[in-house]
Amino acid sequence: MSLESVRYSRGSLLVLNQLLLPHRSEYEAVTGAQQGAQAIRDMKVRGAPAIAIVGCLSLAVELTTNPPQDTSALVTFVQESLDLLIGARPTAVNMKKAADEMKAFLSQEAGKPGAAVLELIEGVIRWAEALREKDVDDNHKIGDFGAKHILETPGSSEVCVLTHCNTGSLATAGHGTALGVIRSLHALGRLSHVFCTETRPYNQGSRLTAYELVYEKIPATLITDSMAAVTMRERRVSAVVVGADRVVANGDTANKVGTYQLAILAKHHGIPFYVAAPSTSCDFSMPTGAGIVIEERPGHELTDINGTRVAAPGIGVWNPAFDVTPHELITGIITERGVFKPEELKEALTRAQ
Ligand code: MRU
Repeated sequence: MSLESVRYSRGSLLVLNQLLLPHRSEYEAVTGAQQGAQAIRDMKVRGAPAIAIVGCLSLAVELTTNPPQDTSALVTFVQESLDLLIGARPTAVNMKKAADEMKAFLSQEAGKPGAAVLELIEGVIRWAEALREKDVDDNHKIGDFGAKHILETPGSSEVCVLTHCNTGSLATAGHGTALGVIRSLHALGRLSHVFCTETRPYNQGSRLTAYELVYEKIPATLITDSMAAVTMRERRVSAVVVGADRVVANGDTANKVGTYQLAILAKHHGIPFYVAAPSTSCDFSMPTGAGIVIEERPGHELTDINGTRVAAPGIGVWNPAFDVTPHELITGIITERGVFKPEELKEALTRAQ
């Protein structure tokens, strides 16, 4: 059975508390949007697609168990809940995009003559459920497009991939984005090895990606973030593949802090650098990465480990959770519609299907 960040059936949402991994695998019930926003803020669930899926499903669960009595109450509840969920973490665009689309869907349906509140509620719930199903489907396509593309690079009979953060089943509804590419390469028997970075300070690499790689018996080695340069020089890394929290119109990409330095290192070593991201992570309303709001997290994530202070008392801390990689450093962006150069992405994805 594959790992699941979310277990959902109509009226019930269980979220794997990722703060407890890899030691304990415990699911917690999320009964509504307030709790959904709190789970996202606390990083019990994280990863751009999973944030949007949990956000929308938390609202769907509340609508199932406590349905508003009339259309006006429904519209107010959906709008307020979505605004709360968007505010939980600002950098990943997936929740904001899903919220905008859900609001537009509801206002269009509610505007139809004779729209009944129960039918509208059913429509919103189905919309949220479909988001989860589409994410799994997109990730399989990303995996297959990415693996095929990387294997087409001359001399790539077997590839060694370096990845950062966690982009797998735990960060999505299933399969993963960058980790989906790694899974697809492994399934094809063409993956020689994976290096995963520890990903300080929250350790998504050592706690979550390492857990997924071990779980799937994918040959992998953990390195600290500061070992990336020497790994690229000495361990025949053929490609770096990372995820994204927001890809903007010119291809600039926000992802877990440390991604930018990996892109610089990859360029220095002549290694292709790929971003794997569904179109739900693309924000073409923003022209360049300069406009992306970078979430800053509390200092104790750096100074403390498991509640024990390890940093010298009194030291100041800066803890940006993400950084922006300029598009010039990105070889290709792997999406569910194919692999594109950063500067071609917007046109390719906005073209009619
Ligand atoms: O702070 P996190 O753990 O939510 O950051 C996650 C990342 O940066 C991922 O790389 C990104 O969301 C893509 S997940 C498919």
